Amino acid sequence: MAERLRVVGGASLSGQALVTGAKNSALKLMAAALLAAGRSRLTNVPAILDVTIMAELLRRLGADVDYDPGTGVVEIDVPERIGHRADYQLVRALRASISVLGPLVARCGRADVAVPGGDEIGSRGLDLHAVGLEALGARVRVAHGYLIATAPAGLRGAEIRLEFPSVGATENVLTAAVLATGSTRIENAAREPEIADIAAFLVAMGARVSGAGTPEIEIEGVPSLHPATHRVVPDRIAAGTWAFAAATTRGDIEVVGGVADHLDVTLDLLARAGSEVSVTDRGFRVAGRGGRPRAIDVATLPYPGFPTDLQPFALAYNAVADGSAMVTENLFEARFRTVQELARLGADARVDGHHVMVHGVEQLSGAPVQASDIRSGAALVIAGLVAEGVTTVSGAQHIDRGYPGFETVLQALGADVTREPDDEDPFG
Ligand code: EPZ
Repeated sequence: MAERLRVVGGASLSGQALVTGAKNSALKLMAAALLAAGRSRLTNVPAILDVTIMAELLRRLGADVDYDPGTGVVEIDVPERIGHRADYQLVRALRASISVLGPLVARCGRADVAVPGGDEIGSRGLDLHAVGLEALGARVRVAHGYLIATAPAGLRGAEIRLEFPSVGATENVLTAAVLATGSTRIENAAREPEIADIAAFLVAMGARVSGAGTPEIEIEGVPSLHPATHRVVPDRIAAGTWAFAAATTRGDIEVVGGVADHLDVTLDLLARAGSEVSVTDRGFRVAGRGGRPRAIDVATLPYPGFPTDLQPFALAYNAVADGSAMVTENLFEARFRTVQELARLGADARVDGHHVMVHGVEQLSGAPVQASDIRSGAALVIAGLVAEGVTTVSGAQHIDRGYPGFETVLQALGADVTREPDDEDPFG
């Protein structure tokens, strides 16, 4: 049944928000576990729907997966022989399924992974994944909606320069190259902390990888890997969400488990705009007490730049900030769905190409709005908290894909947010 979140405006959030493992690392770590026969164990895995879907995908490939959302532990027992096909049904439900491509071609000499297609934030090509695997000696083609990579004689190391530091392409080349013959160098690699996290897991499995987290990753192929145990890196996007929640609602939140270093640019912007930001023993703290927050110009860039995943929160923040700001999206062409919904709440925001000009208003006014993806959904809830009256955010399932117990955390921070059936959803 379709559900929505009912948000009563006027709360200033204060208290602690716990951040668990990063969705975008956990899913890739699960895929990487396919590289070794035996039982690997991941801890600090977030309790979200996407993990359940990835677990199902791995089961269909022949692995035995135990996932306990209560403890955040996923155990993956991989047989000697695994399947090589990821069906459209699951890939459509979870784009991150594409991350089995590298491990499958490395392990099986073949991978058939359904092409995910576009989504709410853009068309999202796979050309860089294909170019990278081809450089490693795979033959890559698309047939009947599947990306098919074959390397019957195995992969061989190569020097690969990515045209753009794509997160997904870096991961697939990395997870394929660990079992290739010889050495591989990935230049212009993505530098996200999740890449370093995957590399750390691969090293624990016996891989030889250095430089992950920098633009140049070196991999010395090994004949086989063994299972390993790994704790998932904290979710910097969830942490950034709570930082924006504090600044936007003029609250005071300690983000327990958050790593301030992974959010340098974001926290620096918030601090310069008047929020109090400090590192604590257990994470970091953002306090936005006082007057209206000052508007901040934001331009999304690959890590360590301002993350595209936090762009909707910058829009919600600027909607009620003092002054005007330009929010520029450089990664995904269609990631501005939040703007129309914020306008329904009375925000003064106008899209011009890949820019949005936002003029802050004193207060938003509650209305029914629709989440289009994980981050837009969470950002609309935060906007609802600074709106007068009641806001309902339909499409709560989007939020559940990225935030474990989102409304429970909000309630603990003093917000009046409840989940209810979405009777008005004509498709519900
Ligand atoms: C990852 O997507 C994340 N998803 C995204 O989070 C995140 O927004 C993004 O990285 C940027 O940080 C996961 O990790 C599952 P990219 P990914 O490859 O890997 C273009 C979430 O819900 N491109 O770095 O798909 C692409 O179209 C999601 O948490 C090509 O043109 O990101 C995009 O414009 C939303 N060809 C840009 O690069 C390619 O072969 C960045 O894509 C690959 C990418």
